[in-house]
Amino acid sequence: MAELSSCISNASPPSTRTTQRLLGKVALVTGAAAGIGESIVRLFHSHGASVCIVDINDKVGQRVCESIDDCKVIFFPCDVSKEDDIKRAIDFTVERFGTLDVVVNNAGISDTPFKGICDVNSFELDNVLDLNVKGTIYGMKHAARIMIPLRKGSIISLSSGAAVIAGVCPHVYTASKHAIIGLTKNVAAELGKYGIRVNCVSPYAVLTNMALAHVPEDERTDDVVAGFRDFVKKKANLQGVELTTEDVANAVLFLASDEARYISAENLVVDGGFASVNHTLGNFR
Ligand SMILES: NC(=O)c1ccc[n+]([C@@H]2O[C@H](COP(=O)([O-])OP(=O)(O)OC[C@H]3O[C@@H](n4cnc5c(N)ncnc54)[C@H](O)[C@@H]3O)[C@@H](O)[C@H]2O)c1
Repeated sequence: MAELSSCISNASPPSTRTTQRLLGKVALVTGAAAGIGESIVRLFHSHGASVCIVDINDKVGQRVCESIDDCKVIFFPCDVSKEDDIKRAIDFTVERFGTLDVVVNNAGISDTPFKGICDVNSFELDNVLDLNVKGTIYGMKHAARIMIPLRKGSIISLSSGAAVIAGVCPHVYTASKHAIIGLTKNVAAELGKYGIRVNCVSPYAVLTNMALAHVPEDERTDDVVAGFRDFVKKKANLQGVELTTEDVANAVLFLASDEARYISAENLVVDGGFASVNHTLGNFR
């Protein structure tokens, strides 16, 4: 019995008891100047992490950095679809903070909503796949380059509810987000032996700039945006709460923290049950 209780107490790492769940950890977050990425940075910082904000938008990225105003948060301008940019961003982070514990591949774009398969063009196809798929592969590759010798690390990528249920997002975006789930599992299979965890997060719609692209720009008045927001809320499965960027950031925080130390190759769906329910049947109406 004594043996069993000592075994149980060993199973819970001390880090799960601190309120600062990333204390002493170093993270890099891509696409972190706005939306979900910005919330991840702010939450990671509040949990004690040193964070490198990586984004193609210098001005906004710098502004987020300045608003946090702590030498533990830095900015690196980077286009994630360019391997050399990602490589330099990761090296810069390690140079400044001495190590790398967490990489969040969050930067992403969508192709134009309202387009059918017959309207897909190669320009948009290249843009979306270069950023969403190649950018994530480069992020994983250069995270692994640092993490393998350290024999630790957590890589988290943003997939989407569009990869869990069909008919909710444009085609190329949907294809790119399916790719993230496949990549996550495959890379987790390779990196497990080094103690590196690889996971992804698939949220339902959150009202960021990306989601607002579903409202044509010339129609984007306050009333129309409010109407779109209501539509998203009504279509959700879970009622009485609205998904926020902070909710998504909390899921990412969990996967980054030691509380998830035995979780890998997982797709954490943050959709309030949306993808599991066939709303067309209306069984419980
Ligand atoms: N908002 C949603 O409803 C939703 C739902 C599911 C999944 N996601 C995923 O979450 C992630 C973040 O989405 P968001 O809604 O916060 O988007 P957003 O448009 O609000 O922010 C995206 C950020 O990425 C940056 N970025 C764009 N191109 C870049 C590039 N080439 N290199 C570096 N940075 C670049 C932008 O400057 C911006 O700061 C995306 O991967 C998206 O697919 C979003």
